[in-house]
Amino acid sequence: MLRSPPQAVFVLTGAGVSAESGLGTFRDAGGMWSRFDPMRLATPEAFAEDPDTVLDFYNLRRCGVLAAVPNAAHAALARAEARLAARGGRLFLCTQNVDDLHERAGSRTVVHMHGELLKVLCQACTRTFARRTDILRTDVCPHCARIGTLRPDVVWFGEMPHHRDAIEAALAGSDLFVAVGTSGSVYPAAGYVSLARARNIRTCEINLAPSDNADAFDEARYGRAGEAVPAFLAELGL
Ligand code: OAD
Repeated sequence: MLRSPPQAVFVLTGAGVSAESGLGTFRDAGGMWSRFDPMRLATPEAFAEDPDTVLDFYNLRRCGVLAAVPNAAHAALARAEARLAARGGRLFLCTQNVDDLHERAGSRTVVHMHGELLKVLCQACTRTFARRTDILRTDVCPHCARIGTLRPDVVWFGEMPHHRDAIEAALAGSDLFVAVGTSGSVYPAAGYVSLARARNIRTCEINLAPSDNADAFDEARYGRAGEAVPAFLAELGL
């Protein structure tokens, strides 16, 4: 069947898109959550109970992000965004990742539904600001001057993901939904394929192996994101 090229592409990325940049995934063998207990590191309760351990964990991850470089999958998505924009279309890039590799590859609009590791949130005044260095419990908030209230601006288990309305509106207005490098096990992101299918939007997953919700997609491309993403976008003329 010959299809007309998509004009509004919605891409959801997960940890797998950054795997070839050396940033570990969560649920693969040897992944982050097989080595560390997320309930002790990635919940508001864990931070209240043991802030130093939680801050250390994210300080280490921040160093990893700063040392990493974007790979061919990030670059291909940035190129596709520019090519679609040049022909009057758009690519909405929604990521579950807290790294900044999409931005560094050249993507102009990136929606971080699980927050950003290179941003800090003050729990007292709720302001956020950019930060590339470690967060310490002795730090003073530059906005409200309180001490010990800073945390990474990442979404923890039990917290609401960011930008849900904008994400769902963009998804509803798209004609192609592509999920890249995500296991499909964390909601609401894992439910986006069903939202897309309910609106008759074409859906495709690109992953190393079938994800938990692989059956929900119309089509799939299996392989490393660094090869499979550029190849799929090339199929679309992007
Ligand atoms: P997961 O670790 O759950 O899944 C990563 C997926 O990427 C797996 O399905 C892998 O098979 C696939 N993968 C690994 N290497 C790949 C490669 N080189 N190319 C393509 N695919 C590859 O990560 P996410 O689905 O992103 O949330 O996890 C979702 C959320 O769970 C994260 O945002 C994080 C985590 O807890 C928070 O921290 C709030």
